[in-house]
Amino acid sequence: MPQKIIIDTDPGQDDALAILLALASPELEVLGITAAAGNVPVALTSKNIRKVCELAGRRDIRVFAGCEGPMQGSLFTAEYVHGATGMDGADLPEPTMPLQAQHGVDFLIETLMAHEPGTVTICTLGPMTNLATALSREPALAARIKSVVLMGGGLFEGGNVTPAAEFNIFVDPEAARIVLSCGAPIVMMPLDVTHQVLTTAKRVAAIKALGTPLADAVTGWLEFFERFDEAKYGTDGGPLHDPNVIAYLLKPELYSGRLCNVEIETTSELTKGMTVADWWGVTQRPKNAFFVRDVDADGFYTLLTERLARLPAKP
Ligand code: BDR
Ligand code: CA
Repeated sequence: MPQKIIIDTDPGQDDALAILLALASPELEVLGITAAAGNVPVALTSKNIRKVCELAGRRDIRVFAGCEGPMQGSLFTAEYVHGATGMDGADLPEPTMPLQAQHGVDFLIETLMAHEPGTVTICTLGPMTNLATALSREPALAARIKSVVLMGGGLFEGGNVTPAAEFNIFVDPEAARIVLSCGAPIVMMPLDVTHQVLTTAKRVAAIKALGTPLADAVTGWLEFFERFDEAKYGTDGGPLHDPNVIAYLLKPELYSGRLCNVEIETTSELTKGMTVADWWGVTQRPKNAFFVRDVDADGFYTLLTERLARLPAKP
């Protein structure tokens, strides 16, 4: 039986790869995809998700637009990394598959409440506004969730938007606080992991060698997306963040970490959005998240490349 998942995402080139990896994997059943506001506004992320589904030949996937901005304050976006469309680097046609009329938050609530408790996993690849809003609106929701696997935060690596904060948490710290304290099992994929998963020239060439239009689109995205981080970190390639969430579901043995307490700083001017992870167990606070710290990066790229090869050569 495939694992049932809902993906909440703000594509984003790395989000796009995460979606492709999920759609290429028979171990996963994608019940729907909800669009978050993050890298770019939700009008664009909800369109980008449909472009990716069509690229994968999956017009049957239901896509829902979510909240337009964080729970508090105004939206901070990242066109400076991802380009004006959020998915610069590949020129994909305008999608023709429909956006569902239902709001993403209502879809999350309805779907989780309709399924047996502990059977649906939520994968969040952007700011967690949609899930936090759903949790706040329906108090019985957390108990229905099998687990939340999220890309966000950082401890030993620090932040990527401020010295202390990673983008997804920084954009909506209040939402992250609500999710981290909701009581559902949580797996956290922080920068500590994603910074090990570099898009080196050799790894990108292996994807390009698949020789399909889809592989061309993917390498176009990777080459666009990595330029910013290569300049910032001085590495061969940039970190590939979001597909780790999906890879963790497919091959958890690629990852290692530990269960610990993670709290979110929501107010401090200097450290707003920081994920304060008690890795060394120096507090008595409840262990609420499995904080992943290491990954077999070559194993990750072997999996990703092999799965991308399974998608239709032409949409
Ligand atoms: C996260 O921020 C976004 O720019 C990426 O898509 C990823 O989800 C990394 O900090
Ligand atoms: Ca993302």
